[in-house]
Amino acid sequence: PVEPCTLVIFGGSGDLARRRLIPAVYNLLLDGLLPAKYAVIGLGRKPMTDDEFRTMVREGVVKHSRQALVQETWDAFQSHLFYIQGENEDPQTYHALRAKAEQVERDMHLPGNRIFYLSIPPSSFASVCEGLAHSGLATSADTAPPYSRIIVEKPVGRDLASAREINEVTGKVFDESQIFRIDHYLGKETVQNLMVVRFANSIFEPIWNHKYIDHVQITVSESEGVGTRATYYEEAGALRDMIQNHLLQLLCLVAMEPPYSLDPDVVRNAKMEVLRCLRPIVGQDVAQYTVRAQYAEGTAHDQPVPGYRREKGVNPNSITETYVAVKAFVENWRWSGVPFYLRTGKALPKRASEVAVQFKDIPQILFNANPAQPQPANVLTLRIQPDEGLSLRIISRVPGTRAQTHPVEMDFQYSDVFGCPSPEAYERLLLDVMAGDASRFMRRDAVEASWDWVTKILDGWAQQKLRWLPEYPAGTWGPVEAERMIQNDGRNWRML
Ligand code: BG6
Repeated sequence: PVEPCTLVIFGGSGDLARRRLIPAVYNLLLDGLLPAKYAVIGLGRKPMTDDEFRTMVREGVVKHSRQALVQETWDAFQSHLFYIQGENEDPQTYHALRAKAEQVERDMHLPGNRIFYLSIPPSSFASVCEGLAHSGLATSADTAPPYSRIIVEKPVGRDLASAREINEVTGKVFDESQIFRIDHYLGKETVQNLMVVRFANSIFEPIWNHKYIDHVQITVSESEGVGTRATYYEEAGALRDMIQNHLLQLLCLVAMEPPYSLDPDVVRNAKMEVLRCLRPIVGQDVAQYTVRAQYAEGTAHDQPVPGYRREKGVNPNSITETYVAVKAFVENWRWSGVPFYLRTGKALPKRASEVAVQFKDIPQILFNANPAQPQPANVLTLRIQPDEGLSLRIISRVPGTRAQTHPVEMDFQYSDVFGCPSPEAYERLLLDVMAGDASRFMRRDAVEASWDWVTKILDGWAQQKLRWLPEYPAGTWGPVEAERMIQNDGRNWRML
């Protein structure tokens, strides 16, 4: 059940609010999933009236909404949108916000349930949490209802120490049950399907282990370069931006033990176990188990792309990585000796994300006409985006008189079977917060465990004292070093 609520967005005039968050709320309305009573209050630095905010949001919805703008619903929707200008660091902001929230809640007969969305840099989290507590805007978990919940956008820190600091700061004001740390990959339809494929089918789980699986590849490939986000990205890089959260969460879903129920904490405990089992990559090992690189000048979508160090806002001597490949091991009974190859990068040939589970080779006794070319192995691929779906590569006989075999794909596409487009990740996740369901959010211990693993790699990299990173031309599949890393194991990256 979703109770009436007020959503307050810090960073309300920013990109995320305009492109993703408010269009997500609008789509929930179109799909009849919002409670009858709700309000959205944007808070930002930019001075704007409610009406100006509505006009800005309208443009965002027209450009970025999954479903087209319908004038009638828009008219109803916009009367639920409000704006207030303020600095996050200024205590006055919170008194003004409280007055505005109370007025809106009175006018719209809302019960005072509040969700605070922190779509702002982590350096402001402390001020916001203190402001919310001192002004009485936020209620504690003990006194609810009405409830107060807080949504924390990434990055939750830049290493283990800073992540702990953020968790301390938010934890002083909010109970863990009130904190929703977002990883939007967990809201993607296909990512949610990972658990269903594994645990709602009888054929996969018995072979989901080191006896039958050769290795797993998790790829999140992006075709765009750094775009307008250089200031953020320069400080982050691909390891912090993608591996620490999205790819490690995918790895957890592939590797976790079956949870005994879908209770949020039971699922999150199962994922946490995986993070605990990750073999640390420390010191000199980074050279063997990780590859980092930067895109150089190249071509994407038939357009010339400048090298990363020549992008606007990027330090010409930057050693921020735009590509990472990691060979990870989950050291438990199930996954003993099975490598998990993770790779992600910007300015690669296309936008495509997938999880591919490659099974062991069969004994090459019966059908290998050419011993130099063994039969390809079975691969189960879960396509996260685009062409959301799942496919299984099996070997079939080629019709005819010669005993020839050929790999074929058994393929399922969401769009063919279910027709309607899936809800966007942010729609699913905002609705979860309204319903108080934390299953698809990161618990404090998981955030810290992933940062712990990632920070060790960062420390190893720092010890290398590199002045330049290996490069790959924009529009290609990454550096030769990454090819070498997997080829040294007698394997290849999948062609996407
Ligand atoms: C974000 C990263 O978390 O995920 C971005 O900060 C990245 O750098 C984005 O582009 C990718 O998300 P999606 O949903 O487009 O795959």
